[in-house]
Amino acid sequence: MAQLAGFIVSHDDAFTTQIGRLLRSCAIPVSIIDDRHAREDAAVDLVIVDIRGDSSSAMATIERLRAASPHAGIFVVALQAEPDLILQSMRAGANEFFTWPPPEETFHGAIRRTATRRETTQGARAAATTLVFFGAKGGAGTTTLAVNCGVDLARLTKRSTIIVDLKPGLGEVALFLGIRQRYSLIDALDNLHRLDREFLRELVVKHKSGLDILAGSDQFDRPGASDGGTIEEVFRLLAKQYEYILIDAGSQINSVTVAALYTADTMFLVANPDVPSVRNAQRLLDRVRQLGACGERVRILLNRAAEPYPIPPKQIEGALGHPIHHTFPSDYKTVSTALNSGVPLALTGDSEIAEQFDSFTRRIVDPETASTPQQPAKRGRLAFDRLASMW
Ligand SMILES: Nc1ncnc2c1ncn2[C@@H]1O[C@H](COP(=O)(O)OP(=O)(O)O)[C@@H](O)[C@H]1O
Ligand SMILES: [Mg+2]
Repeated sequence: MAQLAGFIVSHDDAFTTQIGRLLRSCAIPVSIIDDRHAREDAAVDLVIVDIRGDSSSAMATIERLRAASPHAGIFVVALQAEPDLILQSMRAGANEFFTWPPPEETFHGAIRRTATRRETTQGARAAATTLVFFGAKGGAGTTTLAVNCGVDLARLTKRSTIIVDLKPGLGEVALFLGIRQRYSLIDALDNLHRLDREFLRELVVKHKSGLDILAGSDQFDRPGASDGGTIEEVFRLLAKQYEYILIDAGSQINSVTVAALYTADTMFLVANPDVPSVRNAQRLLDRVRQLGACGERVRILLNRAAEPYPIPPKQIEGALGHPIHHTFPSDYKTVSTALNSGVPLALTGDSEIAEQFDSFTRRIVDPETASTPQQPAKRGRLAFDRLASMW
């Protein structure tokens, strides 16, 4: 799915907040460039200009923006739909004209047009796919699922893949992969001004599967509230370099995980079939909706599923208002052996849970299969290996 970088030009905080919300709630993920953190070379796909004040200076602004970003979609928002003003805006370089406040559906339609136009003007450059794993509660298996999915994606697709550990204070991603890191996400956040391809290569550690790791912080209070704006910029840079970005976002909502949710193509909400998971998942889904992060992008993963279920899957789906996207069996022995040896499940040979990772990963790579019900995992690995050998 296309991911757009948007920029809002206005002096009015209420405008910035309202437009920010409209951008965030679109089914196409739009990250918002914050000019306090933006790098000079930040590429903009979408600019929203507030022209409710002095229209002559607004026209000059639109012309300047058009010259600076020839391919960006420029949306203007005026107080009234005066034919002269519409004409002037279009001549200055605007693509879309709205009156304040813009209706959500038409605004989202314009974002979709911008995404399609960007794809045609910029050729087949595939946008990065960002997958965020979020736990309904601590211990639900978020890190286990994110790490094993990352290894499988890198190994089977041979595409550039990175996993980012957002957890403050000794995240477990590197540990689960048996890797010792020298640098962490905090080094990326603190050196944003010089974060380029070379520098990033220094910061990440490579796993033998091909997966790159941007390890978690060793500081207990970071990434924290003050890192929320900077982290979106880090995600934008990663999106230029990687085809798959997996984010272990833990199970706490804070400004950093919210930034991850905004940037996600898919948010995997990891739950267990028990009461605390379902209750927390309900709350989290409400919060995601309140934040304007589009609920359509949420997929429920049921982990540690074993008969008899404390709560039957149908009841979980009913309570959450979302279907269960994929189910992973409970297999403590296999999972903990893999964890303690630092060898991910996908590399440990045959087990039901390893096969589930294969079929889950296959659905990520080929979303067409995502519309069909969860396939039995048997023979999935063979089919995938054949697919992978074609790349
Ligand atoms: N499918 C599973 N079956 C059995 N145990 C699991 C499964 N998934 C995770 N675990 C175990 O649950 C514990 C917590 O997993 P972890 O991935 O660290 O959770 P989180 O990141 O959500 O806190 C670990 O000991 C892990 O081995
Ligand atoms: Mg974890």
